[in-house]
Amino acid sequence: MCGIVGAVAQRDVADILLEGLRRLEYRGYDSAGLAVINNSEIQRLRRVGKVKNLADSVAESFPQGGTGVAHTRWATHGEPTEANAHPHMSQDRIAVVHNGIIENYKELKAELSEEGYHFSSETDTEVLTHLIYKLLSQGECLLKAVQTAAKTVTGAYGTAIIDKQNPDVMVVARSGSPLVIGLGIGENFVASDQLALLPVTSRFIYLEEGDVARISRKSVEIFDKNGEQVERKVNLVDAKADSADKGEYRHYMMKEIYEQPTCVRQTLEGRISASGIETGIFGQGFEEVVPKINHVTIVACGTSYHAGMVAKYWFEQYANVSCSIEIASEFRYRKFYVHDGSLFVSISQSGETADTLAALRLAQEQGYLSSLSICNVMGSSLVRESDYHFMTRAGTEIGVASTKAFTTQLVSLLMLVLTIGKHKGLPAGVELEIANALMQLPSKIENALLANKEIEALAEEFADKHHALFLGRGDQYPIAMEGALKLKEISYIHAEAYAAGELKHGPIALIDAEMPVIVVAPKNDLLEKLHSNVEEVRARGSILYVFADKDAKFQSEENVRVINVTPTEDIIAPMVYTIPLQLLSYHVAVIKGTDVDQPRNLAKSVTVE
Ligand code: AGP
Repeated sequence: MCGIVGAVAQRDVADILLEGLRRLEYRGYDSAGLAVINNSEIQRLRRVGKVKNLADSVAESFPQGGTGVAHTRWATHGEPTEANAHPHMSQDRIAVVHNGIIENYKELKAELSEEGYHFSSETDTEVLTHLIYKLLSQGECLLKAVQTAAKTVTGAYGTAIIDKQNPDVMVVARSGSPLVIGLGIGENFVASDQLALLPVTSRFIYLEEGDVARISRKSVEIFDKNGEQVERKVNLVDAKADSADKGEYRHYMMKEIYEQPTCVRQTLEGRISASGIETGIFGQGFEEVVPKINHVTIVACGTSYHAGMVAKYWFEQYANVSCSIEIASEFRYRKFYVHDGSLFVSISQSGETADTLAALRLAQEQGYLSSLSICNVMGSSLVRESDYHFMTRAGTEIGVASTKAFTTQLVSLLMLVLTIGKHKGLPAGVELEIANALMQLPSKIENALLANKEIEALAEEFADKHHALFLGRGDQYPIAMEGALKLKEISYIHAEAYAAGELKHGPIALIDAEMPVIVVAPKNDLLEKLHSNVEEVRARGSILYVFADKDAKFQSEENVRVINVTPTEDIIAPMVYTIPLQLLSYHVAVIKGTDVDQPRNLAKSVTVE
């Protein structure tokens, strides 16, 4: 949440900062600001709303200077106003951008106020800003002041600070919120996500927890949490600078929905073939862990949690191991039992979700056999801190509503099921069937995408609805949950998902003509049961939207719209049935005129709890 960009260069950096913010806008977008040092003075611009508003004022005032910091905000403390927007300044000397939450800000604010510091915002960041200034004015250098401040504050921060009395230096610090340093030639950068810096560099250093770095045009010095100077690895990132472009699409979300066949292909490549799952794909040493696995604990949030829910069905059906799945924000605050031989699996698109990361750290202290993260961002905290990692190769996902990350997570989880299943008695024939089904998945998704126009037309019927109910059974129940999450987050229609068999236990009371009911109905062993559930809903006057296999014996009739989905093998049906639900929520949002890629109140990467 919140995006940070900073630069120390010989050239003017305002445009670099702005482009970085545009690329980070998916992290937060209620206000934006930048500050550059110009002739030993700090010039600051802040605007409420999107980065475009800031860009307009930059175009009017042309701030000049080679050292600067910038920020796009997702409000935690204080409303999205200009006064609360970053950068924050102290005594016109330093400018600070910050991502995270300073938990002891109230105590610190009281102390600083007593000492005469004036607060012009409601933010926790301003406390950090005055604290750093206070240490500077006591004679500490900027690096030392930030190191001391870092020890004084509790909570999470990724922060970058510039000081007009040291105009060629920027100091940055990380604890709990990601920061990456981008290395240029005669210029260096910092950002909360490397995506921001891809137009200017492909060489990155990922800061570790507790690191503080002093960055100048020609040098980067990094100090660890004990204050020792350390070397950190330089990573070359092979990502195209234009991966943040929408291409021919109106929204990132639609682009990302359509990228799914390619992303799934990439995720499968070199890992599975018609002759089965390859060995060693989960990293060196993982094959030795596998025979010891007796239980799998999955922890994740949001869409990634739904992927884990589907995997639970698979682990117990095919891999012969018990599996538990839990929301990270619950898991991290309860006492839990660790089964012998438990593999801890975390799933995350970003690899920076605060709760998932905290759950992993907790698990590592609790005697799990090993930890594996399934993640889409190389170099992210989750990847670096897990014993093993497996990359979903979905490419950068910008739309706040997760789409391609979800389908590639499912594919990755299914490969994990096969890897463990092979050691737990999964018959070779079943492995081959699943492998072959996975190989066909990209073309099945392409077929599912052909329903786009039909779904767009259907979406009209949802535009004036306030509620919707999604129903599924078995491994389609989490898919119904994912469909409901997509609809609510981008169209703001209240949507709930139920396992269809649970209908009679309460939710059926909600059903009337104003409550559309969306049913995911592939032809599988539960189909007859689902037919009965559908009849129960129909008898109560609701309009039904049934996504079903052609031969699932559903027919369009009064109050029932059937949308045919390509018949598919049971095992990959969760991925295939996800597609029409993504398309439905996308089109409903477009018709309602909401901000599809940056829906209100949300941020792509939830780096605070
Ligand atoms: C999905 O559309 C969401 N925006 C959200 O639920 C997301 O999946 C969740 O915040 C977890 O993020 P992660 O996968 O990056 O950990």
